[in-house]
Amino acid sequence: MNFSVAVIPGDGIGPEVVSQATEALDAVGDKYGHVFNYVELLAGGRAIDEIGSPLPPETLEAARQCGAVLLGAMGGPKWDRLPGSLRPERGLLELRAGLGVFANLRPAALLPQLRAACPLKDDVLIAGNAEGKPAFDMLIVRELTGGIYFGERGRIGGGRGAAFDTEKYSWEEIERVLRVGYASAMTRRKKICIVDKSNVMESSRFWREVAAEVSKDYPAVETSYLYVDNAAMQLIRAPGQFDVIVTSNIFGDILSDEASVLTGSIGMLPSASLAGIPGDASSGGGYPLGVYESIHGSAPDIAGKNIANPLATILSAALMLRYSFGLGKEAAALEAAVSRVLDMGLRTGDIAGRGGGNAEKIVGTQEMGAAVLKALEGE
Ligand code: IPM
Ligand code: MG
Repeated sequence: MNFSVAVIPGDGIGPEVVSQATEALDAVGDKYGHVFNYVELLAGGRAIDEIGSPLPPETLEAARQCGAVLLGAMGGPKWDRLPGSLRPERGLLELRAGLGVFANLRPAALLPQLRAACPLKDDVLIAGNAEGKPAFDMLIVRELTGGIYFGERGRIGGGRGAAFDTEKYSWEEIERVLRVGYASAMTRRKKICIVDKSNVMESSRFWREVAAEVSKDYPAVETSYLYVDNAAMQLIRAPGQFDVIVTSNIFGDILSDEASVLTGSIGMLPSASLAGIPGDASSGGGYPLGVYESIHGSAPDIAGKNIANPLATILSAALMLRYSFGLGKEAAALEAAVSRVLDMGLRTGDIAGRGGGNAEKIVGTQEMGAAVLKALEGE
């Protein structure tokens, strides 16, 4: 089959990790008889430099025509002093809102090959794990196009007056992201934890009202609730207790960074931002439009040096195959190929010296990408 992919390489290490991911997609295509057509688009810092806007309207329009968007990273010190509305990050937020990708899936699991990269002790990992193993495997579902990121904000009184941002959620915004959480839980260990601050915030109490209704449609899923401060603590006290976590935009932003440290390197974590509920035909065909990007940033300090870890972006491409294109078998093969290169001891600098033992070999961005292609041939 033919699939169209909007590619936004972005800034910093974005272009070098994205090119490894498109090569991986091409290799998947060769192996399984698919063709991926790429449409390269500008956004972020490069778009500010070349067009004067972090998200040119043409980019949004062209991205809407594609089945999925593969994104590198946006931002860098060069653009840090621009006003908020002109920063590269603004382009990212407008892209998310403009494409309606309201559910951000951030899987965080401890790979056995990277056990030594996790800062937690065995007993902490074992504490929450149902099988008594030093492991965890969670999926954070973060609401991505609402809440305080997009609520009313401003200044009052000028100068030394006051400033405000607003957390506001509609029933529908909460319901749809909860449904993504429940649908995901049904394909996993059937546990969902809703994280909020309902002891203080009215919007959080509203989340619980919506959850009480939506949960009735998923009797097989066990629902629990945690206040966000407690959740932050539980993540480092017993991360194995979590299966799916669903939470608001800002809480999800914070908790997913915390969870990423537990996996060893932010250079390993992919993400999918979806405009519909996966597998639910009524919400956009069952294979919704998605934006796929690593969780890490543009890392300008290591850009262009061929040392960035491309695995998070390659794994994001695997999520694209699964969620937007319905190619589950192909996604699993690409993920297995990544696991194979880790088994072989290949490590980029960020994940080196963390338990790879004598077999460990430090490689660059391109070598890592090439190794994944080679491993894919054998899958
Ligand atoms: C993320 C990032 C972004 C966010 C920034 C760059 C705007 O931290 O994707 O987690 O806060 O959503
Ligand atoms: Mg973040």
